[in-house]
Amino acid sequence: MSHAEPFRIRSVETIRLISAAERKASLERAGYNPFKLPAKDVFIDLLTDSGTGSMSDNQWAAMHCADESYAGSASFFRLRDTIREITGFEELIPTHQGRAAERVFCDVMLQKGDVVVSNGLFDTTRANVERVGAIGIDIPTPTALDPGHPDLLKGAIDLKALDGVLAKGGVKLCILTITNNTFGGHPMPLENFQEAVKRCRAKKVPVFIDGARYAENAGMLIRRDPSCKGRTPRDLCAEFFKLADGMMMSAKKNAIVHIGGFIALHDAVLASKLRENLIVTEGFETYGGLAGRDLDAMAIGLKEALDPAALDQRLGQVERFHKKLVDAGVPVMLPAGGHGVYIDAAKLLPHLPAEQLPGHAVAVELYLEGGIRTCEIGTLMFPPGSRPEGSPELTRLAIPWRTYTDNHFDHIVETFQKILARREKVRGYRIVEAPAALRHFRAVLAPV
Ligand code: F0G
Repeated sequence: MSHAEPFRIRSVETIRLISAAERKASLERAGYNPFKLPAKDVFIDLLTDSGTGSMSDNQWAAMHCADESYAGSASFFRLRDTIREITGFEELIPTHQGRAAERVFCDVMLQKGDVVVSNGLFDTTRANVERVGAIGIDIPTPTALDPGHPDLLKGAIDLKALDGVLAKGGVKLCILTITNNTFGGHPMPLENFQEAVKRCRAKKVPVFIDGARYAENAGMLIRRDPSCKGRTPRDLCAEFFKLADGMMMSAKKNAIVHIGGFIALHDAVLASKLRENLIVTEGFETYGGLAGRDLDAMAIGLKEALDPAALDQRLGQVERFHKKLVDAGVPVMLPAGGHGVYIDAAKLLPHLPAEQLPGHAVAVELYLEGGIRTCEIGTLMFPPGSRPEGSPELTRLAIPWRTYTDNHFDHIVETFQKILARREKVRGYRIVEAPAALRHFRAVLAPV
């Protein structure tokens, strides 16, 4: 099968690799935190795939034809109908992004002491759960904690552990994250999802999907799980949605937009409570903090991400990059994630203990050596106690949709080769200053 992109490029954005001395100075000014770098000092930006993809001609065109009415905009109804068609959820609550959906949802659903169980809460989801005094418990499949394990479906929840958590009581909610970003961006298998739902139903625990990357989840299952071979992404996604009570989504990922999110669900009474909360801070219930044009771009992007050719290109590009890194001897988490590649930083820098933040040290070196911006997913992002013991120290190279070519990835592989040649000299980092919640975003660090 051809690897050629099923699109051509009609609008381009100039990027520049500034000098090594300029990169060093810029990073020092940023307190050694890539989140604080000015984007103009970055050559290849793999900090996130969130809101950084390239929109299509059809998305831009739809934005031009949007309805900016404060209430009852036609754009809202177009998005609602698209989400109904794809997910079957009747009620739509738009929000400006995923964490706004999480904030509204957790405010209404949870109380102090409630337990939320998950295959892997993302950092903002965990922060919103904890913000209302609830407790988040991640129980990923044990293979997800071993970066070298070849399991192709590491996004699963540990069903035995789920039985244990449910038996203890106090579980108010189950959030199943597809794909499981915190533990490698891997797919949750359909059968595992069905089993988890069955167990939650038996205990009357509602199940909501964190669907930020639901299309990639289906695309990877079609590529990797023999039981899903030959299915269409849309039909496979529908199997997940039909079992859940609702979903939250950061549309900045698999709706390929620069901003947007939503909650979608069946329960009209709960939806009404969520809307009441929404209006206080996000805006009226038919726009939720977004412009009409954002709603239209989402409606188009949701369908584009489910196109089999688009998904194949997307996932194939990440897999080829992953293979090039493996071939170059870079210790990467196996297998490739849907939205990126995760480096096994503890293996790349074995002389650095977890408290010296090896995943962060890799991110620093990638910037200094090649102008590449990435982010740590390890002890910096998840302080001790907030993840299962033995969770890996990772550096995530998140790949935006339709944005970089294979030549960009070759530059990254070459950068890694230079780092590998001097790996034992790479220093660790310590936190000088950091806020209590979501500390990685704003932390100031220094070399040890
Ligand atoms: N859920 C998942 C699985 C996510 O990956 C994210 C964001 C969110 C929820 C929150 O959505 O950013 O729109 O408020 N992940 C980004 C990332 C930030 O880089 O992985 P948001």
